[in-house]
Amino acid sequence: MKKNKLYEGKAKILYKGSEPGTLIQHFKDNATANNNEKMEIFEGKGVINNRISEQLFTLLSSIDIPHHFIKRLNMREQLIHEVEIIPLEVVIRNIAAGSLTKRLGIKSGEKLSRTLIEYYFKDDILKDPLVSEDHILTFGWANQNELDEISTLALRINDFLVGYFSALKIELIDFKIEFGRMYKNEEMYIVLADEISPDSCRLWDSETKRKLDKDVFRENSGYLLDGYNEVAKRMGLLIENKASKNSKPTLVKG
Ligand code: TMP
Repeated sequence: MKKNKLYEGKAKILYKGSEPGTLIQHFKDNATANNNEKMEIFEGKGVINNRISEQLFTLLSSIDIPHHFIKRLNMREQLIHEVEIIPLEVVIRNIAAGSLTKRLGIKSGEKLSRTLIEYYFKDDILKDPLVSEDHILTFGWANQNELDEISTLALRINDFLVGYFSALKIELIDFKIEFGRMYKNEEMYIVLADEISPDSCRLWDSETKRKLDKDVFRENSGYLLDGYNEVAKRMGLLIENKASKNSKPTLVKG
């Protein structure tokens, strides 16, 4: 059956879902950095991110975080609720890295005195500029109640993920999430949308501080999927093929 493509982004495609109010989220193998200045295809990245994101969203259900994920359909696709995406990238930071260090001259790796939430306006042409709460309210991208809900959810998600990754000997340095509005019985709910994967997080090995995320591609410092596989392995999503030294890890069937 030919799928009805609604939107194609840098790393994902959205198709119409089988039921009204649903979509299919397809994970591509493309990796981009610096607003599309750099692009490469890593065979299997979409499969790993699909599984990692499925696992994290499922775990977040256990602490009652509302989200768009319904179920994984196959290796690259998940069924999700259709939501009205709020045009903000919400970045939560625990340790200084990336654009924060460049913008404010802070040393990378420095623990922040409190969790920092930043908002970026989602606009490729403007290169997703950092915006304040006042900008968001002034231009009506979200209202005060929605922003309060977003920041409360963002901090709860962060608390959970910091603990979860810490048990896997991984430090959650920072991550980006997106939210949407979902309408049910004439009520509007703010729900977590998009994905959570090594594409959208900074994940460092707790001991060696080795980077297990997309910075490896941004900085050209190694083979991107080595880190992604390591994260998936520690999350219990990969089994090592012991038969041959050269065989690749295989995704655990789920
Ligand atoms: P930054 O330090 O480059 O602002 O990135 C902060 C976090 O947000 C980092 O974990 C990577 C993630 N991120 C995305 O997922 N998409 C983006 O377009 C950008 C700029 C960052």
